[in-house]
Amino acid sequence: MRTPIIAGNWKMNKTMAETKAMITELAPKVKDANAEVVLCVPYTDIQTAKRAAKGTNIKIGAENVHWAESGAFTGEVSAAMLKELKCDYVIIGHSERRQYFGETDETVNKRTQAALAAKIRPIVCVGETEEERENGLTEKVLERQIVEGLKGFKSKDFDKIVIAYEPVWAIGTGKTATATDANTTIGYIRHLLAKKFHKSIAEKTRIQYGGSMNVKNCKELMKEEEIDGGLIGGASLKPDDFAFIVNYDK
Ligand code: 13P
Repeated sequence: MRTPIIAGNWKMNKTMAETKAMITELAPKVKDANAEVVLCVPYTDIQTAKRAAKGTNIKIGAENVHWAESGAFTGEVSAAMLKELKCDYVIIGHSERRQYFGETDETVNKRTQAALAAKIRPIVCVGETEEERENGLTEKVLERQIVEGLKGFKSKDFDKIVIAYEPVWAIGTGKTATATDANTTIGYIRHLLAKKFHKSIAEKTRIQYGGSMNVKNCKELMKEEEIDGGLIGGASLKPDDFAFIVNYDK
């Protein structure tokens, strides 16, 4: 059985003071969650978030990591630095990174390797753009992202890796894939994992849905068999909304 995982992606939002306030308010509302609860926050908020989440069931993650151990990479942060902050998770290859910062399947692969080597769990994002979808390329794009992005990883790595399927056209737009469509596409990703890696990997790997997931649609999405959780943007910034999603099964 795969444990559901509901993760927030704060993107470039919240100061340290706002981080402390949000987690203090959120913690009692999610304490009885059956799902794993994660907040991925800006680098500058990690230490505050870890302190505020101490003794709670909320795990803290980063939103990116560089693959090199150290060196001349202005503006980047290494896995060892995140490890020192006791980061539990890190988002890798988010579509905004792919779109605005030149992230490729190759860099996704290197960042994922670095995270795993530091024992930080990677949340690897995949998903097609609106144009790719309209041109019937969804499956082809997902195959490339999965095969190239996760090339070389072994069965034990997939105990740690979480995949987030985020159709780019659904992010921040209010458009959600229907629960059935999201389930079908995530089922396809699972089929790819079985075909390109191993059946046991397909069975154990957790795959989230992301893209305008909110209090209105979370229950329906989470009912689907293939969907093991959510990666939540906008709704993860509000304690009540995020708590509602985390408690989708109550
Ligand atoms: P929204 O939930 O704001 O659409 O963002 C989704 C997302 O990008 C999570 O990583």
